[in-house]
Amino acid sequence: MGKIFVDACLGKDTPYTPVWMMRQAGRYLPEYMRVRAKAGNFLNLCHNPKMASEVTLQPLDIVGVDAAILFSDILVVPNEMGMELEFIKGVGPKFHEPIRTQEDLDRLIGGKEASDRLTYVYETIKILREELDRRGDDKALIGFTGAPWTLATYMIEGQGTKTYNICKKMIYSNPKLLHNILAEVTEVVKYYMESQIKAGVDVVQIFDSWASAIEPAKYNEFSWRYIIEIVDYLKSKYPTTPIILFPKGVPAFLDQVYGNFDVFGVDWSTPMALAKEKLGNRYVLQGNMEPCRLYSKDAITECVESLANTMRDGRHIFNLGHGILPDVPVENAKHFVSECKRASKRD
Ligand code: CP3
Repeated sequence: MGKIFVDACLGKDTPYTPVWMMRQAGRYLPEYMRVRAKAGNFLNLCHNPKMASEVTLQPLDIVGVDAAILFSDILVVPNEMGMELEFIKGVGPKFHEPIRTQEDLDRLIGGKEASDRLTYVYETIKILREELDRRGDDKALIGFTGAPWTLATYMIEGQGTKTYNICKKMIYSNPKLLHNILAEVTEVVKYYMESQIKAGVDVVQIFDSWASAIEPAKYNEFSWRYIIEIVDYLKSKYPTTPIILFPKGVPAFLDQVYGNFDVFGVDWSTPMALAKEKLGNRYVLQGNMEPCRLYSKDAITECVESLANTMRDGRHIFNLGHGILPDVPVENAKHFVSECKRASKRD
């Protein structure tokens, strides 16, 4: 059976517009919390292919989304480049020894050697591939990575940041070092994505969650062109595997978007009609309900109907404009998914 989500990524006609949610396997699901408790903590869960594959499938069965996204985290990449990683309650991810100099960078593991250390991710994908094939339904599996810039912000700052002052200082005062870091991460990510495709994902998504931290005039130089380097590498070897790019918060960059990828993820601050006008003839668009609408069923229906209307010619995938929050009622997530299918059903 053709997979509706894969078909939609490639711009083909589908019986309805498929839907999935960023962070769909997560803390709003009691079933997720139970498996995480068994694993001990979040990183242990990422490192355990049996448990990681179990939580990956939960939103398919519970909420009814059309695609599963591999359960992992973008930060396993710097972790396997040799940076010790901890998730601290109330703080978030933390690297205790951030990269601030060329010597720090030189100590990291690079390229294929780093990507080959991510065996638990490939193992999780293999389990998922087998299970999805066994089920024989048309649900797709999405693999993912962070964009080099977004990964570099954590590697340089050491943790999440409001100001990005350490990595942004590097943009203006030591761009050469920043380019060296970005180039190194790009190499690892190319092999990492290739290995995910070989292990069995149907589609890959690149998250540039902190794209908005860079001024538009510098965004291509410090982020987009590295993303496109990864896209070109993957398309030269796996031309039929769809690629989704999600640069968050860069409406001023819409006029400059280029590259041989398939789907552009629209964040919630960019009107879908504007994204359609600028990019709709070149890319399938994914998004973009404001995730806090998930707190109200009426607010969900209003937005889904408006999106379905704007995108009634197709070339669309429903999603949130960023991740689902932990206190969203599961019932509302189900309402979102069923409303997307209802409102976009073709006659
Ligand atoms: O369901 C899915 O979407 C798949 C799993 C997934 C996770 N992280 C699991 C996770 C994916 C695709 C990610 C990507 C990710 N991780 C991004 C890019 C997307 C985005 O949100 O912008 C980023 C920036 C990260 C880094 C990260 N991981 C942060 C900042 C945090 C802490 C904030 C938080 O939400 O707690 C994480 C932890 C994390 N990654 C959780 C999950 C389910 C929460 C961990 C927990 O169970 O406590």
